Amino acid sequence: MIALHQILQCPLCKIDINKNLECSKCGEKYVLMNDVYVLLNQKLSDKEWKWNQSLFSNDKMEKMVKEYRSYFNDETKTAQEIWWSEMNKYINNFQGIVGDIATGLGSMFEKLLKTETDFFPIATDVDPNVLGWTSKQMKEKYKKEFISVATDTKHFAFKDNTFDYLTSLAGLNNIPNIMAVLAELYRVLKYGGELVVMHSFVEEKSNSYKMAKEYNVERALVREFLISDLSQVGFKRVKANIISSAIWAENPMDGLPIAGDLQYFAIIEAEK
Ligand SMILES: C[S@@+](CC[C@H](N)C(=O)[O-])C[C@H]1O[C@@H](n2cnc3c(N)ncnc32)[C@H](O)[C@@H]1O
Ligand SMILES: [Zn+2]
Repeated sequence: MIALHQILQCPLCKIDINKNLECSKCGEKYVLMNDVYVLLNQKLSDKEWKWNQSLFSNDKMEKMVKEYRSYFNDETKTAQEIWWSEMNKYINNFQGIVGDIATGLGSMFEKLLKTETDFFPIATDVDPNVLGWTSKQMKEKYKKEFISVATDTKHFAFKDNTFDYLTSLAGLNNIPNIMAVLAELYRVLKYGGELVVMHSFVEEKSNSYKMAKEYNVERALVREFLISDLSQVGFKRVKANIISSAIWAENPMDGLPIAGDLQYFAIIEAEK
């Protein structure tokens, strides 16, 4: 088991916290709540995404996930299967400390726990409640040891050079101000460590791109822009391999992409 105070830091002061999760500079006391280390600072992350807590029951969650997937057309289902089988090859080669960005309901995190490869997974999300829910489900199903840290990716509560790998499913697709996110991911990776994320793109000349611009999340949606932004924060050997693609069908439970737009399913690889 990892000594937590050795990898965590105060997101505000960006300095060490002690064994009691207290920052020696600002005096903030971070807490362990429902098995989740909550390293959020209200001054920084008060306006971030929060899940509707009424969803956190087995019946409601199952119904919601089922309904969401019911809108997928066959070509999207097939494209995503191909995407996952490619990603599994990477997961089977992960080692050391592996951070999952924006864990949410844990589709990616579950794959990390399923593999027999020996590495230490850390779930992260800005919403401590979704992380508490997902951690509980995962602890019931899998033996692999892990920890969960509620933290804002823009103010990541990890020390420099902590992770061997950082991964995510669609974690870079929804967070505004992508440059701040990428700079933090670069900072917390070890030298030689890798970012390997499942990510989807649309065309710059698409309705989805236009809509994304309104929410300030458009940079990450276009392959060339994301490659350029990753290189700009310092990443080397940046690749964004398109694995499969499909036309997105109308999904009233999701704002993006827009129905009718071609969505590309990619795996991003970048090294520090
Ligand atoms: C839909 S999930 C992505 C899917 C998820 N990775 C999976 O494997 O199932 C998006 C997540 O991003 C989280 N999120 C949004 N803004 C964030 C931020 N600034 N820092 C960290 N997580 C954030 C949300 O709370 C949500 O759980
Ligand atoms: Zn502090």
